[in-house]
Amino acid sequence: MENEIGEFADWVCWRFGHDFRQYRPATLASRLRQLCARLQLEGAAALRDWLTQHPERIDEVVDRICVPVSEIFREPRALDELRRLVFPQLRSFPTITVWHAGCAAGQEAYSMAILLHEAGLLPRSRIFASDISAGALARAGQGLIAGSDLAAAQPRYAAAGGEGALARHFLPAGDQMRLAPGLMSHISFVRHNLATDAVFCEANLILCCNVLIYFQRALQARAMQLFADSLVRGGRLCLGRHEMALAAAHRYELMPGSAWILCPQPKAWPVPCPDGLGPVPDERMQ
Ligand SMILES: C[S@@+](CC[C@H](N)C(=O)[O-])C[C@H]1O[C@@H](n2cnc3c(N)ncnc32)[C@H](O)[C@@H]1O
Repeated sequence: MENEIGEFADWVCWRFGHDFRQYRPATLASRLRQLCARLQLEGAAALRDWLTQHPERIDEVVDRICVPVSEIFREPRALDELRRLVFPQLRSFPTITVWHAGCAAGQEAYSMAILLHEAGLLPRSRIFASDISAGALARAGQGLIAGSDLAAAQPRYAAAGGEGALARHFLPAGDQMRLAPGLMSHISFVRHNLATDAVFCEANLILCCNVLIYFQRALQARAMQLFADSLVRGGRLCLGRHEMALAAAHRYELMPGSAWILCPQPKAWPVPCPDGLGPVPDERMQ
């Protein structure tokens, strides 16, 4: 079974460019089992034959492998720290860029737009919300949320330091609620793959919550390097609760007074040389 899944991941990467080869094998196996059961297929080899006949269904397969689920104000303590400790620093920048990597259906970006708006920072902010899943991004771009989800999120919003009723940032849209256009217009949803794509913005703040837990070490390292390369000087990174252990190994340290917010450690100088080469000679010494 493990071989079959590895071969399937190789084939999907070659055929569609979606690289799941560095995802945790147990997660990948369980997601593929569920997908096969849903499609009444016997295993990864049968799924490959099915996808060969129905290549237009690849986005659905990506969705099922990634399970892009989230909720608004999902981690209020982290958001509260960002509001108290990072927003005051952001005030000194003429423009602010926030990147949500692995944004699922957009709820995390909606939460950020609301908090930036309440802090008076939204007019100079641009929020990029990226994901690998086209289906999730299409849902995210609608700005819709169920009224019952909003009501359930009210205590989390208050715990994040939100003011008043969360629903005041939404307008009725049929039987759902839609994020106010003035907030939504500051969010750009983009397709970006942490496994294969490069830096695409210079960010003051990056949030990547509950994504790296599904990756193997090499892919975690790639993503952490991508974040370091994307952050402006003084930029901050916020990971999910179960991902904080990655920080030290990847040269990030906790911001003083915080349990959630990370700063990249200053780059080592002189820059280490590849094995076999000595340090770059300082010409002034010669
Ligand atoms: C469990 S959801 C987390 C959503 C949100 N950040 C949160 O904490 O609620 C994980 C998200 O990561 C996305 N994802 C998985 N692999 C990815 C990759 N290689 N590049 C970008 N996003 C990815 C999935 O599509 C999914 O939307």
